[in-house]
Amino acid sequence: MVSNALARQTREDSRVRLIDQSPQSVDMTRELLEGLRAPQKSIAPKYFYDEQGSRLFERITRLPEYYLTRTETGILRAVMREVAELVESDVEGRSGKPVLVECGSGSGEKARIVIDGISPQAYLAIDISKEFLVSSCEALSVDYPDLDVYAVCADYSQDWSVSEILDTTAPLLAFFPGSSFGNFEPDEAVTFLARAQRAISGRGSLLIGIDPPKDVSVLEAAYNDSAGVTARFNLNLLTHMNWEFGANFDLSGYRHKAIYNPIQERIEMYLVSQRDQEVRIGGERIFVAKDEVIHTENSYKYSYDRFVNVAQEVGFRCTRHWTDEAGLFSVFLLGA
Ligand code: AVI
Repeated sequence: MVSNALARQTREDSRVRLIDQSPQSVDMTRELLEGLRAPQKSIAPKYFYDEQGSRLFERITRLPEYYLTRTETGILRAVMREVAELVESDVEGRSGKPVLVECGSGSGEKARIVIDGISPQAYLAIDISKEFLVSSCEALSVDYPDLDVYAVCADYSQDWSVSEILDTTAPLLAFFPGSSFGNFEPDEAVTFLARAQRAISGRGSLLIGIDPPKDVSVLEAAYNDSAGVTARFNLNLLTHMNWEFGANFDLSGYRHKAIYNPIQERIEMYLVSQRDQEVRIGGERIFVAKDEVIHTENSYKYSYDRFVNVAQEVGFRCTRHWTDEAGLFSVFLLGA
């Protein structure tokens, strides 16, 4: 049962319920300006995902160098039966089919593997990119006509709660695939896990994809693909700034750069200014010097120990952990 008065159908003939909690653009403009005024200029990675950015990211996931998606998908397929059994035994005393909650759902492709494995009564997809969220939820609801599908347009790095949307005591399986966890700064990572732990505490588990550290050449190739899709994805951030926030970035004045920082165990992504230039945004002019970099993303790589320590710090326990044969990627099931 939907308890949120704002829930509405996305299309007349659609069964998808849209719950629009998208943040106000006023705050975003302020946040953007703060990032661009700082000594190390930055734009937060959540701005990658406008409609075009989401499409480019989908292309990245199919690139030969980007091992993350296909490796994680292979692991999920192989272990899903075990996951279903563990999820059931983890929530003893709760009856009914589980509710699957996906944070940052993207195309929803991986959710299909989980849906096939655990047959949930409802699927709640939380994503900031409304158009992409709605279209992928609609496609999913056509393929799973008996599944209740909720498209929640929201920033999943903020507080979330299923009971505000669904009036049910069913067990929960939260799903956070794709190493998106690695895009949080360490303090944000702890906050995200603590929020997830609170949201599912006593009611279920979190299934999460984690990318471990590995050979630098493998890592750097994954973020500097030969077809240049990651470069287009990075530069699209500026296009997004231009159309949504009225900025006037000249894309030809910036170049994509991605390097591995072995001390922090993270890929760092930048846009490098090709000349002295100025950009107008939110009524302000910001000077960008030649060779100055705008930081756009960190992608942290977590060893088993490092990740489990963070998870335990906020009250999760590691129920199971799986990797592929080459140890390229890991999937964890955490009990709350
Ligand atoms: C979404 N996230 C897990 C991707 C990553 O690998 O950090 C984003 C990405 N950036 C460049 N390529 C992919």
